Amino acid sequence: MTQVSGTSDVPDLGRRQFMNLLLLGAASGAVGGMLYPVIKYFIPPSSGGGGGGVTAKNELGNDVIASQFVAAHNPGDRVLVQGLKGDPTYLVIQESGSLESYGISSICTHLGCVVPWNASENKFMCPCHGSQYDATGKVVRGPAPLSLALAHADVTDDDKVTLSNWTETDFRTGESPWWS
Ligand code: FES
Repeated sequence: MTQVSGTSDVPDLGRRQFMNLLLLGAASGAVGGMLYPVIKYFIPPSSGGGGGGVTAKNELGNDVIASQFVAAHNPGDRVLVQGLKGDPTYLVIQESGSLESYGISSICTHLGCVVPWNASENKFMCPCHGSQYDATGKVVRGPAPLSLALAHADVTDDDKVTLSNWTETDFRTGESPWWS
């Protein structure tokens, strides 16, 4: 009889799988999208959420350091990090080269696929059923019914990027945020 291995390493494995899939999602969208419910299963509730915000994590699970992050990317880039509730969230590099003050959830509002950024089209384009969102995450083509969720992105005194709940008016629609 083979022994079932212990469970103590499951959270680490889950996080590693999550970050691998996060990268896959950025590259292929469809794979990350289809597996998103699996990803959510592995993310412990303690890894994010709450009103106080969370420190964004990179693909290695390390805190995102703002100065290093903007130096490593180009103006206009949208880059996935782990954000609120463990959700893969895009940080935005402004044309000026600085970090945008909001992050954009990558979770399609149709059926939850991870939506990849298409730089040449300047849109987020969902591979699952063709929904499209503009560069701010505002829905421009269905079947997605709603824009991608927003989060505040701030830089702390020690140069880390935090993501926190966006409860104010959605500046893209002028409406209350559907996600809060
Ligand atoms: S899940 Fe994105 S279009 Fe259906």
